[in-house]
This record gives sequence, C-alpha cells and structure tokens, in this order.
Amino acid sequence: MNSSLMKYEALSALQLQQVLQIDLRPEQKTMVGDIHGGLHALSARPVADIQGYVLLVEEVPRGFFLLKRRSLLPLWARGRTATLHALMIDRRYQGFGLGRTCLQKLPERVSNLWPEIEHLMLAVHPDNHSAIALYQALGWTFREDPATPAEGFERQMILKLR
Ligand SMILES: CC(C)(COP(=O)(O)OP(=O)(O)OC[C@H]1O[C@@H](n2cnc3c(N)ncnc32)[C@H](O)[C@@H]1OP(=O)(O)O)[C@@H](O)C(=O)NCCC(=O)NCCS
Repeated sequence: MNSSLMKYEALSALQLQQVLQIDLRPEQKTMVGDIHGGLHALSARPVADIQGYVLLVEEVPRGFFLLKRRSLLPLWARGRTATLHALMIDRRYQGFGLGRTCLQKLPERVSNLWPEIEHLMLAVHPDNHSAIALYQALGWTFREDPATPAEGFERQMILKLR
C-alpha cells in the first residue's frame, strides 16, 4: 500500500473533506472518540504546541494522529516530552500495517518538528489490546509510576527518543 504522512495543514481542499470520513468501529469510538474529536482538539492554541498528521493511502486520508508539547501537555506529562493523541486508522484499513507505519515514522517526525523532545508519551485504555500490542511491539513501555491509576482507567506509556 502506497502511504505517506502529511501535516494536517498541508492537505488539499478535497483531502480536508476526506479526513472527515475516517471512521472507527463502535467499540473503538467508546474508548478513543472519533475523528471529529481529534480535529476539534487541533483547534487548541498556541499552534506552536500542537501538530496534526494525516496518513495518506494513495493520496486519500486513512489515518490521523496529533502531537502536543509544552503548554498543551496533559497533566501527566512534563518537560521535554511530546504526547501522542487520537491515533486512528480508518476501520476499513485496519490490520494492514498502517498503524505500525505511523508509529515507525514518529520518532523522526518528532525530532524534525520539535528537536528538543526527548520522550514520547501517550495514554491508552487498558482494554485497548490491539493498540497496546502495537505500542509494545514498537518499544513503548508502561510508565513506572507509583500513582498508577486504578483498574479501568487509562494507562500511560512512554518511548525514549534519546
Ligand atoms: C490501534 C490501531 C491504530 C492499529 O492500527 P492498524 O493499522 O490496524 O495496526 P497494524 O495493522 O499496523 O498492526 C500493527 C500491530 O498492532 C497490533 N494489532 C493490530 N490490530 C490488532 C488486533 N485486532 N488484535 C491484536 N493486535 C492487533 C499487532 O501487534 C500488530 O502487529 P502484527 O501485525 O505483527 O500482529 C487501529 O486499530 C485503530 O485505529 N484503532 C482505533 C483507535 C485506537 O484505539 N487508537 C489508539 C488510541 S491509544
């Protein structure tokens, strides 16, 4: 599958419409929300601390995620950390390696975008087994934290960039 990662603001007018068609399975929406929530999050300011990416397959958006840093970091992330949010692959394109492709490209993209970043972090629902398997396969580990949330709450994962 011919895929490429593009910054959200570089999409064409047609691709901006097509992004809205990225869809998840109902049980996935319960855990992570949907593309509308992801795009709404992109309206956070300052723009310098947030970046949306779209995965194109044959030039059509089939995946999405966003990155945050500094003033937009969630409470559980600090310092030279960027956080990954709203990673999603359209339900009709899941299982073809596109999620893996997004995550494999992530370290280089982050280093080019925000060179000061030393860690990536994310929060994942404990029942999101496919996402956890993917993150672990690419080297992400659960954060050692004595204040680990109670069962059923999101767990944080971390990937060291350097
Ligand atoms: C999680 C998600 C991004 C994975 O994307 P994908 O393109 O389907 O995943 P890939 O095809 O790249 O699979 C990569 C790895 O993920 C894991 N994985 C993917 N689907 C899986 C499934 N149904 N069950 C178990 N593991 C799975 C496997 O480890 C797989 O590696 P393998 O193919 O060597 O077994 C996608 O399923 C998705 O959009 N889910 C809904 C949104 C979501 O949960 N986002 C994460 C928020 S924290």
